[in-house]
Amino acid sequence: MGKVLPLDFLKNKAKGRKIVMVTAYTFYQARIADEANVDGILVGDSLGMVIMGYPSTLQVTMDEVKHHVRSVINASPTALVVADMPFLSYEVSKLQAVKNAGEFLRIGADAVKIEGGLEVVDKVEAMVKAGIPVMGHIGLNPQRYLVIGGYKVRGKKALDAVQILESAKALQEAGAFSIVIENTTAEVSASVSRALKIPTICIGAGPECDGQILVFHDVTGLNPNPPYFARKYANAYEVLVNSLSKFVNDVRGGLFPTVSEYKTMKEDELKAFKELIRKRKG
Ligand code: KIV
Repeated sequence: MGKVLPLDFLKNKAKGRKIVMVTAYTFYQARIADEANVDGILVGDSLGMVIMGYPSTLQVTMDEVKHHVRSVINASPTALVVADMPFLSYEVSKLQAVKNAGEFLRIGADAVKIEGGLEVVDKVEAMVKAGIPVMGHIGLNPQRYLVIGGYKVRGKKALDAVQILESAKALQEAGAFSIVIENTTAEVSASVSRALKIPTICIGAGPECDGQILVFHDVTGLNPNPPYFARKYANAYEVLVNSLSKFVNDVRGGLFPTVSEYKTMKEDELKAFKELIRKRKG
C-alpha cells in the first residue's frame, strides 16, 4: 500500500470504507500503528497528558508537538500523519495559523488539525489557500474547556446540536478535508456525517461516522483507566510492569546477564591485559 494522502480520506468516504486513526507520539508507537494498518496517525496535543503528565492540553507548546512529529515521521509511516496545532498556535491571526501549520509540514507532517468551528473557519481557509491540508475538530474542544465549563458531552440540546452541524458545514466550505467529532451525542455525529462530503472521524461520538480515532494509550491499556468511550484491547501497563519487575528480580537475584548477553575478550588479549595491569602496578 502506498502513502496515505488527505485525498484518500475522501475516497474512503465515497467508497463507504471506514477510516481508522490512532494517536501516536513516538517512533515505535508510529511503527506499531503503521504495522496495524491504521489510515492515519494523529500526533495529538493529548501528548500533554499521556506523555508529559500535564493537567490539560493548554500547557502544550509548538516545540513539544514538533518534537513528537519528528519522532513519528522518523518511523516513515505509510499512514497519513496529522500534527495537532496546540493552544494559541493558530487563534491569534491567519498569518500565525499559516506560519505554524507550515512549520509542521516542513518537518514532514502530511496535514494539521485545529480545534473549533465557526470561530476558526477564516484560519482554515487561509491555511488551505497556502496549500496546507486541514482537519477540523468540533464537538468537545478540550483546548476550550475553561470557557465551555469542563469536558462535557456536546449536542444534548437541539440548539447546541444545530450549531455543531453549522460549524461542520462551514469547515467543509472553508476547505477542510475531514473533521474530528469529539464527545457529541450519536445523533449529532450521524447528522453531520450524512450532511458532509468530507469524512467525519469520531471519538466518543457514536457509530454513524465515517471513521473512528482513539488515543494510543487508551486502546493499548498503557493508560490503565481509559475513558468510557475507549475500548482497551490490551493491558500494556500491566505487561510492562510485569516485564520490568522480572528484570529487577533477575538483576537482584544474579540471573541477569548470562553468557549470551555479554561479550568476552580473546584469551591472548586477556593475557596481555593482565600483563599490562601487572606492569603498571609494578
Ligand atoms: O489530541 C488528541 O488526541 C485529539 C484526539 C482526542 C482526537 O485531539
